[in-house]
Amino acid sequence: MSTGRFPEGFLWGGATAANQLEGAYNEGGKGLSIFDMVSFIPKEERTSGIEMDVRSEQELNDLLAGKEGDNFPKRRGIDFYHRYKEDIALFAEMGFKTFRLSISWPRIFPNGDEQEPNEEGLAFYDQVFDELLKHGIEPLVTLSHYEMPLHLVKEYNGWTDRRLVDFFVHYAETVFDRYKDKVKYWLTFNEINVSTISPYIGSGILVDRVDHVEQAVYQALHHQFVASARAVKACHEIIPDGQIGCMLARMEVYPETCNPDDVLAALEEDQKNLFFTDVQVRGYYPSFMLQYFKKNNIQIEMLPGDEEILLQHTVDFLSFSYYMTMVASGSPDKAKEKGNFFSGITNPYLESSDWGWQIDPKGLRISLKKMYDRYQVPLFIVENGLGAYDTVEEDGSIQDDYRIDYLRAHIDQMGEAIQDGVELMGYTSWGCIDLISASTSEMSKRYGFVYVDQDDYGNGTLARSKKKSFDWYKQVIASNDIID
Ligand code: BG6
Repeated sequence: MSTGRFPEGFLWGGATAANQLEGAYNEGGKGLSIFDMVSFIPKEERTSGIEMDVRSEQELNDLLAGKEGDNFPKRRGIDFYHRYKEDIALFAEMGFKTFRLSISWPRIFPNGDEQEPNEEGLAFYDQVFDELLKHGIEPLVTLSHYEMPLHLVKEYNGWTDRRLVDFFVHYAETVFDRYKDKVKYWLTFNEINVSTISPYIGSGILVDRVDHVEQAVYQALHHQFVASARAVKACHEIIPDGQIGCMLARMEVYPETCNPDDVLAALEEDQKNLFFTDVQVRGYYPSFMLQYFKKNNIQIEMLPGDEEILLQHTVDFLSFSYYMTMVASGSPDKAKEKGNFFSGITNPYLESSDWGWQIDPKGLRISLKKMYDRYQVPLFIVENGLGAYDTVEEDGSIQDDYRIDYLRAHIDQMGEAIQDGVELMGYTSWGCIDLISASTSEMSKRYGFVYVDQDDYGNGTLARSKKKSFDWYKQVIASNDIID
């Protein structure tokens, strides 16, 4: 492998989200979040890769009432809330330059629509950021990672209601103001495109309350775009040396063959994925999407001034998650392969993970090149990694060579993309410490360099131990490239 491809100051690190990590769901004055309501479903009972939608008022009330045997893993996370010092020390030992985490919005505003923030929640993140900075680790903070206050779902049907824009901006301004001397890197909405797949998790929508789901989702997204642009504006005003980005679940789409029908289908699928970054990076709705709205009877209500806000307050950088690529065909009714939130035709040239996610390191280079060509802004890979079953050997070690192979191949392609001329700010590997899966709520789907002793039902000591990949990643960071 070649070396020296990564620039000085490249932001190596790891990524997490409050709802999958912190636990302590009812401590410190925190309100309930949407993901606190998503329960674990054993593999044999799953009907799809996505078991996270709550669809109706009734369903929500039943979940709130609870029943015997309830298992809500995201409520317990991995207890980072109480163990953050130990965890951050491990990240520091690996040499992390940055650590991506999210602020749990309901820790700061338990209901989401209050004026006054919850001081205990603010104080918690002060301590976490101080601990990171003590170790020389830059916090990279997501404002909203699938954990909006549940109250906003019940009272407003989530982002369908325009008032959420002001609630979110108030939340963003509160945390910018509080942490302006501690946090320089921010992201607005995690995987903003996920609402089209999961309206509840992406936008807090109970679909049974709306007549035209797609209309509701795109209206909610418009509100999120405006809220995101206003957060960008606020960030620039409050933290002049700060940088703020958008975040996309990137799905590079390949044509199944060189048949122009397949090529066109792939192009159109890809446009749908890039629509979100078109709005957030370029600052306006692309014409293909306006046509799509017309054809599908979707009317986006925009207020005077919205278009100016989107155009004037575009992001400083584009961040994205990358786990897999997709295949599109011009002929309908092709078999579908399950991903986490997305699906597509199986690519025969690629292998799949135990969860059927197709592994495609070169696709990362392709994506980086394509997005840099299109937008010409710095890119940041804020999620990538292999969810796998790990085995603890008798001597306590975890020999996760499969994870090292996955990461080596992806990091190598990042290095090549940089050599191709792509401006890449950093890389935060997903779930640097084992945490609860977003799509399945499993603990046994592990991504970490650090193993956490807990099973899908919350049994275990929560003890942390280093996997083989821990030392490997440490070496990558120290040498600023792959050397093995
Ligand atoms: C991304 C999410 O979609 O994928 C993360 O931003 C998530 O929250 C990650 O954990 C991996 O997905 P999963 O379902 O394996 O946890």
